[in-house]
Amino acid sequence: MAEIRPMRAEEIPFGLELCRIAGWNQLVADWERLLALDPEGVFIAEEQGTPCGTASAVRYGTRLSWIGMVLVHPDFRRRGIGSALMAHCIQYLQQHGVESIKLDATDQGRPVYLKLGFRDERPCYRMTGARPDGLPSHPEVRPIAPGDWPKIAEMDRAAFDADRLPLLRILHGEGPSAVIERGGELQAYGFARLGFNASYLGPLVSRNPDDARAVAETLLAALPAGSVYWDILPDNAASLALVDSYGFQVIRQLTRMVLGASTGSDGVAQIYGAASFELG
Ligand SMILES: CC(C)(COP(=O)(O)OP(=O)(O)OC[C@H]1O[C@@H](n2cnc3c(N)ncnc32)[C@H](O)[C@@H]1OP(=O)(O)O)[C@@H](O)C(=O)NCCC(=O)NCCS
Repeated sequence: MAEIRPMRAEEIPFGLELCRIAGWNQLVADWERLLALDPEGVFIAEEQGTPCGTASAVRYGTRLSWIGMVLVHPDFRRRGIGSALMAHCIQYLQQHGVESIKLDATDQGRPVYLKLGFRDERPCYRMTGARPDGLPSHPEVRPIAPGDWPKIAEMDRAAFDADRLPLLRILHGEGPSAVIERGGELQAYGFARLGFNASYLGPLVSRNPDDARAVAETLLAALPAGSVYWDILPDNAASLALVDSYGFQVIRQLTRMVLGASTGSDGVAQIYGAASFELG
């Protein structure tokens, strides 16, 4: 029976090794961010002292939480370790009184989660393409400034239906950020960062498609040349149309799943980019 315990920072190389085996995009910074959000909420499974799997549980207040990084080394699969890691995360989150637990499930993970009581919520697409060249500049768009945070917190709570501010503040230090404010009201904001296979655009939140495009193009222009990943919820058809307009293709289709209260449906129309599969 695997032993499950909190992961320590010095064990990040093992988590990273599992990411490389699975072909995932995370870097050291992605694991560090999870540990910064909750040092007790990242888990490692060991069998007789050998690390064999990981999972992470991020709490956005008590309203919503997100499970991610569910990875089991191929030599240890189909022995119940993935299910045990999940059960551990669920217990941890329920002990903290969260109303809703979500995750973005791969086809390999979904059967495991269905057995644990998760239900399908909506599809989630990973889209990719080359960073477009020759993008127009958008004078209205500027980097996020310290005074923007109260407005970002308010708009993000409406769109995401939970308090993501600690995450957004960390992302702000990791790569380009952009915001549009008009008439004293925030219209859109977004973030981007580097990844192993591709740069990552998101999260991106906007009240309308035009401002989403302006923020996205500003972020894209700030990224290095090469591939970009951009995760969207196709239930927001405008987000799919936007990413599609750059010739990006769907490379992975995941299923957003939920255990507990349903949250966030009203805000989907403002979500033009997710934060990542492990963060929502
Ligand atoms: C998805 C993943 C984490 C599952 O890990 P796992 O440890 O193999 O999961 P479990 O062993 O708990 O369950 C997987 C399957 O093994 C079966 N199983 C569990 N214990 C078993 C046992 N003792 N003997 C045989 N089969 C067993 C489960 O019933 C399940 O079967 P099913 O797929 O037919 O429903 C793993 O395949 C993985 O790392 N995949 C790549 C990364 C990935 O996609 N992660 C999910 C992200 S959302």
